[in-house]
Amino acid sequence: MDTIIRSIDIKKIDVNVIEEASRLLKQGGLVAFPTETVYGLGADGLNPQASSKIYVAKGRPSDNPLILHIATEEQLYRVVENVSDIARKLIDSFWPGPLTIIFNKSDIVPYETTGGLDTVAVRMPEHPIAIEVIRQSDVCVAAPSANVSGRPSPTEAKHVIEDLASKIDMIIDGGKVGIGIESTIVDVTVTPPMILRPGYISKEMLEEVVGEVQVDSAIIEPLSQELKPKAPGMKYKHYAPKGSLTIYEGKQEDVVGHINQLAKEKEQQGYKVGVIATDETYDLYHAGQVVSIGNRKDERTIAQNLYGVLRSFDENGIEYIFCEAFNTEQLGVAIMNRLSKAAGYKIKNV
Ligand code: TXA
Ligand code: MG
Repeated sequence: MDTIIRSIDIKKIDVNVIEEASRLLKQGGLVAFPTETVYGLGADGLNPQASSKIYVAKGRPSDNPLILHIATEEQLYRVVENVSDIARKLIDSFWPGPLTIIFNKSDIVPYETTGGLDTVAVRMPEHPIAIEVIRQSDVCVAAPSANVSGRPSPTEAKHVIEDLASKIDMIIDGGKVGIGIESTIVDVTVTPPMILRPGYISKEMLEEVVGEVQVDSAIIEPLSQELKPKAPGMKYKHYAPKGSLTIYEGKQEDVVGHINQLAKEKEQQGYKVGVIATDETYDLYHAGQVVSIGNRKDERTIAQNLYGVLRSFDENGIEYIFCEAFNTEQLGVAIMNRLSKAAGYKIKNV
């Protein structure tokens, strides 16, 4: 299939491109577009044939449900059974924005979209291109991250092109995304509400609005037989680079010393080595391909670059990746959740 690729300047949105994308979505096609978190691969979430195409294009397991993206509250009331007081407070505080809320689904939402569940995940993105495409088409757009299943999520159109060109109808290039990791998922069908995936909106931010919030323990621990995450997608190996990634926690100087030693050893053995540093430590590393992922004083830069850095190591055929830990304030939980999964939970204290 030929994939149409169009660029949009987000300060001057070209309505012709929005119309083209909307037409394709209404006809049951697949369109990738930017959101504020990561690029999404959209299809009509109320059309089972269209939804099913997403699973084929991504190679996604069919029990892994999709998030419906909406632009108006009117669309929300089409797809959910009811909006509780807690859900209402969350919507008023965080939508549009990087928060996905789990509701009981209405009858029109097909099981192809919810992976067989009676609940549905819904989010109103805060990105002018995403919102315009959804509004213009009036489609409730099912959109997972626009990567091949298991690969790092796309934060630029070139990542989508790498993974999905010739498999989907259209890609809208709206530049680099702002946040860089996927939305926080909170389930309000249980009391107290439960975080199923950490993201930009932290537990503390949610608790300020609705009081106590619990966290699905399966999202911080290595997965085991007993511990099944409640968001089906969280059980799959994810975000993984091709090389072996290990994370090192501890005092900064100890971590730097340890990584330097390991990087040198592996290089001497003939391996290609990558090091994930920060602006603060970049100059302290002397072996391997050293990349600064961002600045510890602005943790948003770390989230923004995370997936792009993991992909860049794949491009260069890196076989061993050594990474610092990031227990930063608001985004630390989300960053470490994604990194730990990418590392297959290889986290060492030095
Ligand atoms: O930021 C985001 O959320 C991005 C952008 C494109 O909006 N989307 C995204 O979608 O990350 P995806 O499909 O990569 O991740 C959706 C996650 C999966 O872990 C899935 O299992 C979970 O949401 N999920 C969806 N519906 C659910 C439901 N009804 N109950 C529990 N978990 C659900
Ligand atoms: Mg994903």
